[in-house]
Amino acid sequence: MCNCGDYIQDMRYVALEKMLDKYRHTTGKIIPVLQKTQEIFKYIPEEAIKIIAEELKIPSSEIYGVATFYGQFHLQVRGKNIIRVCTGTACHVQGGGKLLESITKTLGLSGGTMTTNDLMFTLEPVACLGACGMAPVMMINEDTYGRISPEEVPEIISRYMEKDGIEKCIA
Ligand code: FES
Repeated sequence: MCNCGDYIQDMRYVALEKMLDKYRHTTGKIIPVLQKTQEIFKYIPEEAIKIIAEELKIPSSEIYGVATFYGQFHLQVRGKNIIRVCTGTACHVQGGGKLLESITKTLGLSGGTMTTNDLMFTLEPVACLGACGMAPVMMINEDTYGRISPEEVPEIISRYMEKDGIEKCIA
């Protein structure tokens, strides 16, 4: 059985240590360090905060304070693909609720869980995606899908599963 997951995980911590070396003697480093950490892990794990605190001699409470203050930082594990679905008024009027239901069902999410077990997808409802004229709207990563019906959701999401399948074969 492949241990690729463990190897990638280890490599992430190696990358974290390497990145921290660059910030050891600089000031005003918490935000850039957290941004780089999130680039490495796709979120900010608790273990990484402990390492940052130790290595840079910053209280972990201070790091948590910054990480929780800014919306750009995510402390929970996130999927490879981020699905943002709009819950704003224009989208709601055009059936945004049914769209959200369809996405949730397609991903098999329940009980308030927003990330699939295989870490392929994270669902994030947002107040407005700035494309109200195309309501209802969802985005998958950088791709915008407007005026879509709940019935179209499984096929759209499957495109991102196929993309991943191809990458796995190449790897
Ligand atoms: S209300 Fe949905 S994109 Fe603005």
